[in-house]
Amino acid sequence: MWWQDAVVYQIYPRSFQDSDGDGIGDLRGITSRLDYLSYLGVDAFWLSPIYPSPLADFGYDVADYTAVDPQLGTLDDFDELVREAHARGLKVLLDLIPCHTSIEHAWFREHPDRYIWSPVDGPANNWKAAFGGGAWSRDEESGRWYLHTFYPEQPDLDWRNPEVVAAMQDVVRFWLARGVDGFRLDAVNVIVKDAELRDDPPASGDFPLPLAGESAELDHVYSANRPEAIDALRALREAAGDAFLVGEVYLPTSGYPPYLEVLDLVFAFELLFAPWDRERLREAIEPALELGRVAWVLSNHDFPRLASRLGPEHVREAATLLLKLPGTAFVYQGDELGLPNGPGVDPPLDRADRDPFRHPMQWDGSPTGGFTSGEPWLPPIDPAERNVEAQKGDSGSLLEHYRRLIAERESSERGLILP
Ligand code: GLC
Repeated sequence: MWWQDAVVYQIYPRSFQDSDGDGIGDLRGITSRLDYLSYLGVDAFWLSPIYPSPLADFGYDVADYTAVDPQLGTLDDFDELVREAHARGLKVLLDLIPCHTSIEHAWFREHPDRYIWSPVDGPANNWKAAFGGGAWSRDEESGRWYLHTFYPEQPDLDWRNPEVVAAMQDVVRFWLARGVDGFRLDAVNVIVKDAELRDDPPASGDFPLPLAGESAELDHVYSANRPEAIDALRALREAAGDAFLVGEVYLPTSGYPPYLEVLDLVFAFELLFAPWDRERLREAIEPALELGRVAWVLSNHDFPRLASRLGPEHVREAATLLLKLPGTAFVYQGDELGLPNGPGVDPPLDRADRDPFRHPMQWDGSPTGGFTSGEPWLPPIDPAERNVEAQKGDSGSLLEHYRRLIAERESSERGLILP
């Protein structure tokens, strides 16, 4: 399988390369930068969502699963991107968001039975939303209360409704027919909820990954990680055939085995949160290494940048650790330059304060870092100090360190190299 041992580069489309001067990255911009991915030596790239979206959650609130957001381009642009990627031997992964839609998706009005509604006039239970507050909101139009695991603008789909299963299988087939090589499946541990909507118990304090706000007050026994999640994923697998499926399963490593009955890999979250300490890293890595079916990852668009989380003095060792581990590794755009967290904007665009991790890629030392000829949607951080052009060819640079590590993967021995 091509993905075993692959290096996958995560592109945040709004922040990679703008081609039309509107300050927002787009598909044509990505196509124009594919040679960079070849230079870096990665095998594949994952695009964070490209679908039409009102941007309550920057694309993770999908208004149409089978179209491209006009800000990012068109389906023709997408086809061109896939063609050009494949011509370079690069595989293309899309982000699939099966747990919820945008509240502006036509289904919410036309097929309300595809969503989860409270049987009472008010919240059905004590569940909390991942970004804070209760997980139930009142739909002003119908007066009924609907469930949302994330923002209120992201109503949860009811995977117990066969129509939802069939519709999402169609989405998978639609993109496979356009040539995609696989999917990163968003938030799949919360894809199915308890049929009886039972209250979650108070937190025991055992959950090892960070949870935001009030959602940390509960153990997500009924609102998440239900056994039926695997059936839902099996349906996606059926539609996907042997296309690559990597799951965002926000659980400790011990929770992964059932998901791996259906998915190829799941992200190793314990590593993503491990402090830069030999023993803590070892504890986070060894069980996942034993499982053998994880995607190694040190950062993404949801959490602080690697250089800020670990400190710039550790970024080289972090790259070595990541890229020497046996198996598939994911690299988030900009980490190969040592990009730190940015300042974000005031007021924030993302209410969960993730703007600082999503600033534009820095291609050269010009004021907009070569990202756009217009006004960037988030300001560049430090293009004069850190950019591709300056690091390319400089054998002491972080970029060249990444490049060497990637180039050596096939020929050199791999294993756990702790700092
Ligand atoms: C995933 C995404 C995150 C998004 C959430 C809801 O965790 O990575 O960006 O906000 O799902 O879709």
